[in-house]
Amino acid sequence: MLRTQVAIIGGGPAGLLLSHMLHLAGIDSIVLERQSRDHVLQRIRAGVLESGTIKLLRDVGLGERMDREGHVHDGAWIAWEDRPLFLIDTRKFTGRQMMAFGQTAITEELYRIRTRNGGQVIDEAKNVELHDIAGDKPYVTFAHNGVEQRLDCGIIAGCDGFHGVSRRSIPASVQRTFERTYAFGWLGVMSEAAPLNEIMYAHHSRGFALASQRSPTLSRYYIQCDLGTDVAEWPDEKFWNELKRRFPQDVADRIVEGPVIEKSIAPLRSFVSEPMRHGRLFLAGDAAHIVPPTGAKGLNLAVSDVFFLHRALEAWFKRGESRYLDLYSDMALRRVWSAERISWHLTQLLHVFPDEDPFGRRMHLNEFDYLRSSNAAQAALAEQYVGLPFED
Ligand code: APR
Ligand code: PHB
Repeated sequence: MLRTQVAIIGGGPAGLLLSHMLHLAGIDSIVLERQSRDHVLQRIRAGVLESGTIKLLRDVGLGERMDREGHVHDGAWIAWEDRPLFLIDTRKFTGRQMMAFGQTAITEELYRIRTRNGGQVIDEAKNVELHDIAGDKPYVTFAHNGVEQRLDCGIIAGCDGFHGVSRRSIPASVQRTFERTYAFGWLGVMSEAAPLNEIMYAHHSRGFALASQRSPTLSRYYIQCDLGTDVAEWPDEKFWNELKRRFPQDVADRIVEGPVIEKSIAPLRSFVSEPMRHGRLFLAGDAAHIVPPTGAKGLNLAVSDVFFLHRALEAWFKRGESRYLDLYSDMALRRVWSAERISWHLTQLLHVFPDEDPFGRRMHLNEFDYLRSSNAAQAALAEQYVGLPFED
């Protein structure tokens, strides 16, 4: 029988970062990850870090590769059809910057540092089940290499993403979920070619597009596509042509068409499950919430959840104080709902909605023109895009 202070379900960014930060606080944990390490590290995910995430990663010793390979930005650009480019200038309005640095690289660094520090990450842990989460002696059962195991713990951290077991372990009688789905998806491409220097969103009557980067030799591009689109309908040449049609010509002329090494379609969803705690179970990251990627908030929300949860667990295990544990769900959810709102707002602003009527179209255009003409509106957007502060 295994025993630890914190059983962490899920070895993605949330679970691994929590395990690392608890280690720094002298609190032991065991991570149970369903997939193999290779599988986790092959996932193509987000790539833009808020200023608070950048600071936290540096503070916990994960900044070296990020600062070496990451690309710092003063904000992100919006290219709106038939209008001048517009910068969401986070540096001008908040003094803070963003960074393009892939989630995969962060997860690689987390696996590296956990291994170096003797962290226990059990890969390919199957049939994970949570037990007695409402009691004071919770435990987890799972199978590993065909052997049934039991892990006794004081706390369970559910960091197992949207499809995990943790959220489903909270009784429906105490759970409230909120969801918004969208009538389109993002067709994403990773290309071995120099990216644009900027992070640039494009709004065009043909649909949304986005240009981003992973490194000086790796580009990341997306175009809005219909739900149910088959990737096979989008050979490389068709993708590049459509992407360039959605950007202004002078921007499109700078897009380098490199070898496509990954192409996939992701649906867009807004989702929140409340509360983020039930007894000794605490949810963090995608296990509790999903945002459409338009605001680049998914990874950053996982980081802020983990910051709040690690602070609560350190106070509890080290000083016997339960205040931050008791405040965790409400505090994390305040930041979650702020990120949900700005992600929903930017999704509404930047995408073409098939059912939009002429009046809605005029509202759309006027909102962008107002944003472009108002420092107050730009400051409000900039502070939300760069990331709101973590509550004390
Ligand atoms: N048992 C053990 N592990 C599980 C289980 C389970 N039943 N179900 C899921 N997992 C694992 C998954 O294999 C995955 O590695 O939990 C991990 C969850 O990781 P993520 O889905 O990446 O979620 P999170 O760590 O919260 O990171 C959020 O990832 O999906 C992106 O956009 C999202 O950038 C955001 C970030
Ligand atoms: C990315 O680089 O993958 C990216 C950038 C900005 C977003 C979403 C994704 O809003």
